[in-house]
Amino acid sequence: MKKILFINSCPRPRGISRTLRLSDYFLKCYTDKHPEYELTEIRLFDEDLRSLTAADIERRDALLQAGKTDDPFFRFAHQFVSADRILIGAPYWDLSFPSILKVYVEHLCAGGITFQYTETGSEGLSHFEKAIYITTSGGFIGGNDYGTEYIKGVLNFLGNGTFTACYAEGLDICGNDSEKILQKKEKELSIIAEKW
Ligand SMILES: Cc1cc2nc3c(=O)[nH]c(=O)nc-3n(C[C@H](O)[C@H](O)[C@H](O)COP(=O)(O)O)c2cc1C
Repeated sequence: MKKILFINSCPRPRGISRTLRLSDYFLKCYTDKHPEYELTEIRLFDEDLRSLTAADIERRDALLQAGKTDDPFFRFAHQFVSADRILIGAPYWDLSFPSILKVYVEHLCAGGITFQYTETGSEGLSHFEKAIYITTSGGFIGGNDYGTEYIKGVLNFLGNGTFTACYAEGLDICGNDSEKILQKKEKELSIIAEKW
């Protein structure tokens, strides 16, 4: 079976999180038409994830040098590298996204598993063909799109798949009809899902 990895970076639960609503909607549109895909969701806020410490880096490097890439330390990297489709759903926080997503990225970037250095530079080893980043914001993102740009850069570093982003903005602005904004985005997402 082909694999979709949903990297759920939303702290709020289903029924409350608008980012999760759009992410779930997109996944439903896609998997309804593509039953050959198996969906795996990682809930970053439920994982035992912490910023890499000096001791973690030392351990990681020792494991990689010893070729012990099957150590649980690399579980996120292995899961990521084998996915065919990637969805990252994260709310827009402080001009980017919740910091747990950055911590997750620290665990993904493992030399020899998700990327490698060659004579001409770095090379992504991940298999994903397509990735989408879904976010929602209270106000307007405008030129402060640091989260999307960062995620796009990381995905480009780790693989060669195409990248799409979808935003629902202005959800917390007084007087805005957030339900209407979300429904409009769902329509957009159903069209993206058809070609994804
Ligand atoms: C910690 C935090 C930081 C936020 N930072 C921003 C921000 O910089 N700009 C903005 O427009 N909205 C910001 N918001 C509002 C959220 O982007 C918005 O409510 C979003 O839809 C929340 O997603 P959710 O419903 O999936 O939790 C912030 C919300 C929180 C809780």
